[in-house]
This record gives sequence, structure tokens and C-alpha cells, in this order.
Amino acid sequence: MIDFLEKVLEDDTYVLTRDDIVQVLSLDTSIIMKDLCYVSDIIRQRYCGDDVQIRALLEISNICFRNCNYCGVRRDNTLVNRYKMSIDEILESAYGLSKIGFKTLVMQAGESNAHKSEELAYVIKTIKSNFDMAVTLSLGEHPFEVYKQWKEAGADRYLLRHETANDRLYSYLHPDAVLQTRMDALNSLKELGYQVGAGFMVGSPTQSVSDLADDIEFIRDFQPDMVGIGPFIPHCDTPFKDEKAGGSMDTIRAVALVRIVTKNALLPSTTALATILKDGQKAGLMAGCDVVMINFTPLKYKLLYEIYPDKKCMTEDPNTIIEKTTDMIKSIGRNVSNDRGHSRKIKNQ
Ligand code: 5AD
Repeated sequence: MIDFLEKVLEDDTYVLTRDDIVQVLSLDTSIIMKDLCYVSDIIRQRYCGDDVQIRALLEISNICFRNCNYCGVRRDNTLVNRYKMSIDEILESAYGLSKIGFKTLVMQAGESNAHKSEELAYVIKTIKSNFDMAVTLSLGEHPFEVYKQWKEAGADRYLLRHETANDRLYSYLHPDAVLQTRMDALNSLKELGYQVGAGFMVGSPTQSVSDLADDIEFIRDFQPDMVGIGPFIPHCDTPFKDEKAGGSMDTIRAVALVRIVTKNALLPSTTALATILKDGQKAGLMAGCDVVMINFTPLKYKLLYEIYPDKKCMTEDPNTIIEKTTDMIKSIGRNVSNDRGHSRKIKNQ
């Protein structure tokens, strides 16, 4: 085993350096993956235990003002039928999910004002005061005041992937945006007391080992409460349609490194990974992940939230997915958590 991986296991205070990170990212996966995943799984066990959090996801709108070159619901993709769930539809779904025992509702949407901020504040308040659930938002960049309004309404967490921590690559992926605005938004969310999720894509067009090392270093230094990591998957109605997808082993390697540098962060085993790799969700959980999200968007909308093609589990009944996911979790010696799964980085929640 490489000496710094051994150090990680023996010395709690050892922090991976950029050189360590670059070395892991540069080696052939056939050489490094066994040892790396062995170490990341032990760290997961030590700092997070064996519980896996299952979150319910609701994609409340696919309307988006942004024009990200990789994303199927980008503004300029006129082939998308746009939708927004009504307030009643959202609340009905939330009620149903709380009844079957979900402790976290993740509401995700394209970045827009399709739902007014006050409407969403009302939704958050209603869910928090009536259905015993944590609320996670994933709605893109908004002004500080709006983040504050939603926090005061009771929102617990906010997922805002940074996508890449490299200035050049960020601008290449997002023709209408700059990295600094993203970083400012993440800092605002932290300051407001949200449990904050960052995250990135692996294998996005032109991404180099050095760019990926920037991501791992950013996560190491920012210490988000949650980190979402998935492979880039080309969508045929975007400027990146002819680009190559990110690799599954490269994605798992990034997940394992993030587990090692965050120790106790909540790491979802993403649908994107499960889309490009058979049993990818299980592979993620075995490499350091401890969260799974199940999509409960009503079917008529779910099919329209196509950020990348052939998303896993699109038409399967979500109740069957719960069963299968539970079985899979047990099959690898893990348990389904029955608490809310708050951040381990924030005390007394
Ligand atoms: N491939 C993989 N991931 C994608 N995302 C958006 N489009 C794609 C794609 N084509 C990811 C982004 C975004 C999250 C919701 O989905 O990282 O933050």
C-alpha cells in the first residue's frame, strides 16, 4: 500500500496533500483502486458507521435560466417540455412521503423564478410544521436574501454543486457564469447556517488530473456537510453531445478520495454513477458513500427532467425501488437509517 494511505489509517490527523491527491489520480485504476477503496471504506465505517440514509427526491420544476453546456434542461434546449409542480402537488407528495417514513425531502429544480421565493417559503414552512421531515433545497444560485428567507422558513440543507473548482473549466462548462459567484453562494449558505452540499462532475470535457485535484483540495478545505459526485454523461441536445462520458472507475476513485479528506461528510452514491455502471449504487456505497436518493417525482414530470439520458430507474415503481435498495443495503452488511441523517459536522441538530 502507498505509504500515505497507510498513514491515513494510522494517524487521524494526517491530511492528504496535493501531491498525495495527484498521485492517486495519476495511477492506473487497476493498481490503486483496491487499496484506496479499502481505506475509504474503513474511514466511512469509523466516522459514519454502517447506516445508510435514504432521501426522497422531488424534482419540482425543469425550468432553467442557465445555459450549462452539459445539461439537458439548459435554457437553449427548446426541445424540452417545461413544467413546474403546483404548490398542492408538492405538498401532497411531501405528505405521502412523510407517511411512508421518509425523514428528508430534497426539492430540486432548474435555476429560475418559476416558483416565487415566497411560494417556496410557504411550502417549506408547511412541510416543517406539519410533516416531521428535514428539508433539503437544490435550486441553484439565488440572492442572499432569498437563501435567508428559505432558511428562516425552516429549510435545513442546501445542495449546490460547485461542478468544478477550476476557473478555466468552470467558464468552459458554464458560458454564462464564473466560479467566484458559485463560491460566494456556497459561502453565503454556510454563513446562514445551512448544512451545505457541494460536489462535482468527473470526466467533464477537457477536465485534467490537475483540475480534479483542485476539486478534492477544495472539498478538503471547505469541508462541506455533503458532497455529490457523478460522472459527466453526454446529452444529445447539448453542445457537449459528442463528448465522452466520465469513467465509472474515475468517479469511484474521486468518491473514495473525498471520503478520506472529509472523513464524516454525507456522500450520496449518485444516480449518474448507477446510470453508467451496473450495480454502480452498491459500488459507491462500498467505496465510502452513505446516502442514497430515491426519485419520487410524479412520472409525468420525471421523464421531462432529463439532465442526462437513460437515467436509471425512470419508470420503475418507487416502492419497488425502496424494497430493492433496502435489500441491496442489507446485502453489503449495512443498515437503513431511521434518523433524519443530519450533518455530522454540525453538533446538536
Ligand atoms: N451529466 C452528468 N451530470 C449532470 N448534471 C447535469 N447535467 C449532467 C450531465 N449531462 C449534474 C450537475 C448538476 C446536477 C443536478 O446534475 O452536476 O449539479
